[in-house]
Amino acid sequence: MAGPRLVRRLNIEGDGQGDLAGHGGEQRAVMVYQLDSYRYWQEQLGRDDFVMGQFGENFTVDGLPDDEVCIGDRYRIGGAVFEVTQPRVTCYRVGLRMQEPRMAALLVSHGRPGFYFRVLTEGTVQAGDEIVRLGTGPETMTVAEIDALLYLPGHPKDQVERALRIEALSPGWKGSFEALLESAQSAAGGGNVGLTAAAASPAPAWTGFQRLRVSRVQAESDTVSSYTLQTLDGAALPAALAGQFITLRLPREDADGPLIRTYSLSGAPGSADYRISVKREPRGAASGWLHHHAIAGLELEVAAPRGVFTLAEGPGPVVLVSAGVGITPVLAMLHRLAALQTQRRVWWLHGARNSDDVLFAGEVRDLLGTLSDARVRVCFSRPLPTDRIGEDYTDAGRLSADLIRTLDLPSDATAYVCGPAAFMDDMVQVLTDSGLDAARVRTEAFGAAAGMTPGVVAGGSERAPHLPDRQGDGPVRATVSFSRSGLTVPWRADGPTLLELAEACDVPVRWSCRTGVCHNCETATLSGTVVYSPEPVEEPAPGNVLLCCSRPRTDVVLDL
Ligand SMILES: Cc1cc2nc3c(=O)[nH]c(=O)nc-3n(C[C@H](O)[C@H](O)[C@H](O)COP(=O)(O)OP(=O)(O)OC[C@H]3O[C@@H](n4cnc5c(N)ncnc54)[C@H](O)[C@@H]3O)c2cc1C
Ligand code: FES
Repeated sequence: MAGPRLVRRLNIEGDGQGDLAGHGGEQRAVMVYQLDSYRYWQEQLGRDDFVMGQFGENFTVDGLPDDEVCIGDRYRIGGAVFEVTQPRVTCYRVGLRMQEPRMAALLVSHGRPGFYFRVLTEGTVQAGDEIVRLGTGPETMTVAEIDALLYLPGHPKDQVERALRIEALSPGWKGSFEALLESAQSAAGGGNVGLTAAAASPAPAWTGFQRLRVSRVQAESDTVSSYTLQTLDGAALPAALAGQFITLRLPREDADGPLIRTYSLSGAPGSADYRISVKREPRGAASGWLHHHAIAGLELEVAAPRGVFTLAEGPGPVVLVSAGVGITPVLAMLHRLAALQTQRRVWWLHGARNSDDVLFAGEVRDLLGTLSDARVRVCFSRPLPTDRIGEDYTDAGRLSADLIRTLDLPSDATAYVCGPAAFMDDMVQVLTDSGLDAARVRTEAFGAAAGMTPGVVAGGSERAPHLPDRQGDGPVRATVSFSRSGLTVPWRADGPTLLELAEACDVPVRWSCRTGVCHNCETATLSGTVVYSPEPVEEPAPGNVLLCCSRPRTDVVLDL
């Protein structure tokens, strides 16, 4: 742009960012890229068609190389003062702009990401202004170093600690390094927890599906039954974390392929068997089948416990919030807290219709009775004439935001919420409004998790998951099952990546770089193996795949 421009705290006048979810904001007000990198990529990619702003930057600069500029460096340019906050966000947009899909991965692997400024003093800047360094960031960690520390394998602990000492580093990157540090201390199962929570789960106890036997069936209400599963030889099953789920592949198919469904474990974590509790849905294929066919002695195919909706152990208060059959994962957490004889303050908040409908009332009462500091609110929306307030329930009406507001929950609490989608939305809102840190309000959806498609289709598709509209004509090489969406689709020779296939089926997915760098698309694989092309910059955690750069090698079942 010709002439002086006013640089404000959030962006440059007349030169805003395209995708404000992934870019922009105070920490990413101005994106900087270097002329020297233009020359480098022209040579590397054999191109001579670059134009100014090719790399999506706001400032194209002569000098300031990524391997010299440090996070926290301060510069005066024209009338404004800037501070370096973080490297570029790896996003597919740079690949689109460059017509080079691998570009996001190349910027990282070649150590030339570019970086962001925050604006310390607003002022005007114009082409030709001198860049004057006012100070060097503490720890003198360069942009290239810090980018490699997050994205490339290794993450040495002393370097992560060094990065965390840089005050100017953006909160988003600090959060990633904190997660890496925590996982180094807990020796988590691999993958990059700095980039995705999907890597925070330990490696699954077995791969694929294993046959387990139903040892007990227990009716919990008119519509919910519990099924206890044990190994065929009676050996103890591997311990699951409180809040994890298992996945069943039932011995029948429906129009959408094999019946694969996921159920949270409702029993005590660490017991020798697994208990699930299944609500019979009207016309529900899997729940209906289980309610009709599952009797003691029946063998079922079961994938190992997975999931990251798990109870974090530590000293802080815990709020367990559920409605209806959403009680299952938080009941497992309550079992765990009781087994630990926790001294933590625990809130048990549950909503049901009435005493015919409420689940595990006796079990919950017994567990809460063992805790030293437990507070209970059980809300009945339609109490029976025989239901006694103070005995069967504490409050008439729904478990609502208004009730939560009266509880005066401490802001250092961690909340775990499970129930219908609208209920969870309300609870998340009121819990964060009550002062809980959003990162400590955790939810489990009994269906597909929300998608994330940066800057492409606001709100995603309205269509329910379906078979792809165009199937192609190559021979079928494998099937891909999306377990949360209850859909199995054929994958044909030379077919799309798993990410593209999911998109063609309107299965909600999360992604950003689409080329194996950012790990936003990391997903648990319940069974099967994949082939990568291109190879990811860092491998996902064991038992997970990166959807954007993989295709099935065998039939694959994904936790999507
Ligand atoms: C992480 C996770 C944990 C879970 N934990 C539990 C748990 O602990 N307990 C539990 O009960 N569930 C749990 N679920 C949900 C479970 O996986 C299944 O989605 C649920 O059992 C319904 O499956 P289904 O095959 O019976 O219903 P589906 O056949 O998949 O049908 C889904 C819904 O559509 C409706 N439907 C089906 N056919 C029609 C039609 N022709 N017309 C109109 N409506 C129709 C059904 O009534 C049902 O409500 C969990 C899910 C996830 C992802
Ligand atoms: S979308 Fe970035 S790794 Fe797949």
